Amino acid sequence: MGTMDQDILKVLYTEKQIAARIEAMGMEMYEDLKDKNPLFVSVLRGAFIFMADIVRACQVRCDVEFIAVSSYGNATSSSGAVKITHDIQQDITGRNLVVIEDILDSGNTLCFLKQYFATKGAASVSICTLLDKPSRRTKVITADYIGFTVPDEFVVGYGLDYCQKYRNLPYIGVLKPEVYGGNDE
Ligand code: XMP
Ligand code: MG
Repeated sequence: MGTMDQDILKVLYTEKQIAARIEAMGMEMYEDLKDKNPLFVSVLRGAFIFMADIVRACQVRCDVEFIAVSSYGNATSSSGAVKITHDIQQDITGRNLVVIEDILDSGNTLCFLKQYFATKGAASVSICTLLDKPSRRTKVITADYIGFTVPDEFVVGYGLDYCQKYRNLPYIGVLKPEVYGGNDE
């Protein structure tokens, strides 16, 4: 227990549940990717913890890259525009990419990235997201691998932040409304 736990209204997925789900996802992905020399691309910062766990759960020969994006908007919802603030460091022509994301929400970020990697010559771009929040989708996009489908609530922990905090909670939970001032829509 730390003091951050006091800010959590409820736990959606425990550390154990997350680990079990990632184990199963990794095995499923292994079957699809074992002959594809995939390049796993983690979207910073939210996916950094998921990335570390999913690449170890999926024992394929692969390499890893990191991309950082910022989307304009407020703390708990994004607008349409996406900007790359740190790009990948290699030529991806002909590579099979697997984008590792923390949460698929409106779809803005992953729609943009899919397009971006396709124009850079990737042979394929698949999407692996720990969380999917389909109720908030504004773009037509689905993930190839989904950890959990979540309700329309703002979640933190296991990489996900509120104002850059709570990323190091080992579980995924919902913040108490008083912590983020309630409704920001
Ligand atoms: P879009 O809307 O582009 O959103 O699909 C993707 C990014 O939005 C952030 N996001 C969240 N972050 N709790 C968070 O901590 C949430 O419930 C949440 N919903 C969206 C996240 O950074 C993700 O990469
Ligand atoms: Mg975020």
